[in-house]
Formats: sequence, structure tokens, C-alpha cells
Amino acid sequence: MNVKNSLSESEVLKAIFERRSIRSFTNSPVSKELVMKILEAGSWAPSGLNNQPWRFAIVWDSELKEKLSKLTRYSRIIEEAAVAVAVFLDHDASYDYIKDCQAIGACLQNMLLAIHDLGLGGVWIGEILKNKDKVRALLGLDDKLELMAVLAVGYPSRRDQKSARKSLDELIVFEQ
Ligand SMILES: Cc1cc2nc3c(=O)[nH]c(=O)nc-3n(C[C@H](O)[C@H](O)[C@H](O)COP(=O)(O)O)c2cc1C
Repeated sequence: MNVKNSLSESEVLKAIFERRSIRSFTNSPVSKELVMKILEAGSWAPSGLNNQPWRFAIVWDSELKEKLSKLTRYSRIIEEAAVAVAVFLDHDASYDYIKDCQAIGACLQNMLLAIHDLGLGGVWIGEILKNKDKVRALLGLDDKLELMAVLAVGYPSRRDQKSARKSLDELIVFEQ
């Protein structure tokens, strides 16, 4: 069966509501196969003109991961994670900066939902963007690539995270 098309709507909604940011991980390694599935889920996000402006850098190596972790105040999270995935915008593929950033947001959310669905945990690290050029240099990547976020991924050491959302009353600004 095609994994992409096999989820019923209720499973998708369950994942949307139950996913939480995971910031502490066990020592268990994550297989390359699972990471590829996460990237594949990201790559099926919508994008303007289907331009697919996202690019991925996968950091498994613990020394490199440690260097990457030093570029954010959330270093412990990246150090603990089995793998870090940096997501970039490729300016060569870009046609509209805001729309491309929105597409990459959709890509990141697809990845987080896939991480959750696969029994893994992850968190979107945005704080590292203050050092986006240093991240690109550390990975030896071309300057046409702009860092959008790093996802820390691993097996969760706990699953009791709580979060809250504003009520819809606070969010709906117009209805007729
Ligand atoms: C753009 C963006 C940037 C974020 N940056 C960080 C970050 O640097 N460090 C972190 O621990 N969490 C970060 N997060 C995760 C949020 O804190 C988290 O999604 C929010 O508190 C809601 O919790 P939940 O994901 O468990 O529902 C970020 C999320 C987004 C969407």
C-alpha cells in the first residue's frame, strides 16, 4: 500500500492534535530509512508553482552535531538528538520569498507529523537562525542556500509534554 495515501482523515487529525515538540531523547539510533521517510513527507508539502524550494542537510556525525549544537542556546537538544536535519531555502529555486518561506513551513510541519507518526520525536529549532551563515559554513554549503530551521530528531525519552492553544474565539477575526 502507498504509505502517503493510506492515512484516514481521523489518523491525520489525531497526529495534528497529539504531536508535541520533543526536546529530550534516548540514546537509541534512528535508522536512515526512517529519516528518508521523514524527508519524503517533507517533500510532499505544497509549494507555490510546485517549485519545491526546500533542501535538506542531514547531520549524523556526533562531532559535527556538537559543533552545530554550539550555534544555538538549545545545544543540549541537538546534542541529545540522534540526528539533526537542517532545512534550507534554495534561492535558485525561489520565485517569491514569502511564499517560499511558507512552503518550507509546510514542509517542516509535514516532517514533524511524520516524525510523530513514526514513533519518533522532534522539535523545530528556529533560534539557531541567528547563526544561519555559520551553520551553512560549518556544513560547507553554497550561499544560495538559506537556513530556515533545524529539526532535532530522536526517540523521545518522555511523552508527557503539554501544550496549549488559544481558543478559536480569540482567533477568528471575521465570520458572516
Ligand atoms: C518557527 C518556530 C521556531 C521554533 N523555535 C524553537 C526553538 O528554537 N527552540 C525550541 O525549543 N522550540 C522551538 N519551537 C517549538 C515551539 O516552541 C513549539 O512548537 C510551541 O511551544 C508549541 O508546542 P508544541 O509544538 O508542543 O505544540 C519553534 C517552533 C516554530 C514553529
